[in-house]
Amino acid sequence: MALRPSLHKQFALLVAASVLAFCCSAAGRSVGLAPASPSSFNNDFDITWGDGRGKILNNGQLLSLSLDKTSGSGFQSKNQYLFGNIDMQLKLVPGNSAGTVTAYYLSSQGPTHDEIDFEFLGNVSGQPYTLHTNVFSQGKGNREQQFRLWFDPTKDFHTYSILWNPSHIVFYVDGTPIRDFRNNEARGVPFPKAQPMRIYSSLWNADDWATQGGRIKTDWTQAPFTASYRGFKADACAVGSTGSSSKCAALQTTAGNTNWWIRQELDATGQERMRWVQRNHMIYNYCTDVNRFPQGLPTECSVA
Ligand SMILES: *[C@@H]1O[C@H](CO)[C@@H](O)[C@H](O)[C@H]1NC(C)=O
Repeated sequence: MALRPSLHKQFALLVAASVLAFCCSAAGRSVGLAPASPSSFNNDFDITWGDGRGKILNNGQLLSLSLDKTSGSGFQSKNQYLFGNIDMQLKLVPGNSAGTVTAYYLSSQGPTHDEIDFEFLGNVSGQPYTLHTNVFSQGKGNREQQFRLWFDPTKDFHTYSILWNPSHIVFYVDGTPIRDFRNNEARGVPFPKAQPMRIYSSLWNADDWATQGGRIKTDWTQAPFTASYRGFKADACAVGSTGSSSKCAALQTTAGNTNWWIRQELDATGQERMRWVQRNHMIYNYCTDVNRFPQGLPTECSVA
């Protein structure tokens, strides 16, 4: 479900291949490896699969997904959104979460879809999760960046945010920017800006590739595995379940648009904090993976 497992497998192989290439090549180089009122999950989301494994609790204030040997589970937003700032608090599968993947992402539909991904790859007890990010525009991704978190994401809820406007897609963890994907259409790089996206999340098993390259399998004696969600907040243009984007398109072009997120970008402090994260916590960056792109790094890498 969720993100195409086959693509992930390809990516895992690519990373494995580039790590290998790195370790064994003489010419070594560094491979980094809306409204402010508290909302109710009942109003904003539907549990879409998992046969009862996804639950909305506490009067709509909490949502949980679970995974066992038979199935994972997932939910999606009722609305589609075109630009905005979207916050969600997640508490990830604790303990031995090896082989589990918690995906939290925005996506439009169809073969030329756009997508903005957070994905959390579980690990054995005491070993760190990998936070995997990607951006697809017009059906094309291959823009992976991976991070280690500077806290244990299973002990407590932490806020994962996506700021998306016509010029930037910024990923935040607890208010700290970790990635800024800029609009480089002027250089011929497609940017997601015309297709409204839904919010999706799923908890599923991918022990063929997710943890330490697939070497560590899920320990089903620990099942069910559970991830929890709360504090959803969308300051965003919601276009409704039918997906007509005229309202948001109008918003975007209105000179007097007063939504704070429409022209928001990182200031000097934000950029400094992002550099700190990228220097200290980034473990993979497609923009430095020259073995993967023998014809040359993607265009946005030379300006990002
Ligand atoms: C799990 O832990 C190992 C050892 O610390 C690390 O190499 C790996 O990147 C971690 N994450 C995943 C998803 O395998």
